[in-house]
Amino acid sequence: MLLAPTIRRMQEVSRSWQKKGLAIGLVPTMGYLHEGHLSLIKKAVQSCDRVIVSVFVNPLQFGPSEDFESYPRDLKKDRSLCRRAGVDALFVPSAREMYPASFQTSIEVEKLSRGLEGAVRPGHFRGVATVVAKLLNACLPNVAFFGQKDYQQAVVIRQMVADLNFPVKIVVCPTVREPSGLAASSRNSYLGESERKEASMLYRALQLGAEKWKAKMPAEEVIRIVKDYIAKHSGFEIEYVETSDPKTLLPVREAGRPAVLSLAARLGKVRLIDNILVGAGLKT
Ligand code: PAJ
Repeated sequence: MLLAPTIRRMQEVSRSWQKKGLAIGLVPTMGYLHEGHLSLIKKAVQSCDRVIVSVFVNPLQFGPSEDFESYPRDLKKDRSLCRRAGVDALFVPSAREMYPASFQTSIEVEKLSRGLEGAVRPGHFRGVATVVAKLLNACLPNVAFFGQKDYQQAVVIRQMVADLNFPVKIVVCPTVREPSGLAASSRNSYLGESERKEASMLYRALQLGAEKWKAKMPAEEVIRIVKDYIAKHSGFEIEYVETSDPKTLLPVREAGRPAVLSLAARLGKVRLIDNILVGAGLKT
């Protein structure tokens, strides 16, 4: 497996693969790889001739009081997981390589970035869109893989790719969960054993909400039931629970319509997000 620390090297390698007519898949990550990442990598290995995984903890998408410094990192383990999964190249740029001192351009996907995560993490999706555009230009993939776990992120990236005519297909893969229902996340490493148990209640609450939504209960009541369940069964503090249109991400209030039921919640310093699709969702 090739290790590419620079954009120039990564582009050289990708161009040489392109010349041979090979289909290149990219899985962008911030590392500390888990089963969720590995499901994306597996899909890429199955459907592409060459697979690149990028590992870059992107400072641009963290707010000033967020966990950029403490975000878990283990490149050695990531390397061996990627090697075992059949990855062809690991793109591991430094922050300097991605953002030299003169850096001054950013990408904003305006409407889709406004609500949900965007409302509580100002600037977050600007950071995500900008780094993903750079990763696409560095790795030159035919296909890029993202997880439904970060639903709004996937929708924002799809829009950016369409708006800016990136010649890449975006594939969105289902959320991988632990047996308890807890969505796999690098941030789960912040949780102790009993906190993990509490965290699994978030998915239970979403499942309950989905049932009520399907039964055409009014949106406000569904949201209240989800919030009450979390408050009753865990110490998590809810940041938001929302039912949104799967395409526009605007709030949906008509009971029973296709929607994404999503939430963000906090336990001490740990902030988790999750979502569940009710009705039609993102095509892979
Ligand atoms: P990261 O959180 O490392 O996630 C990398 C990719 O893995 C994302 O597409 C995310 O949605 C997906 N993923 C995470 N947990 C998952 C799970 N449980 N099941 C399925 N897929 C899962 O998301 C980012 O990094 C960054 O914002 C990035 C896109 C790399 C830009 O910096």
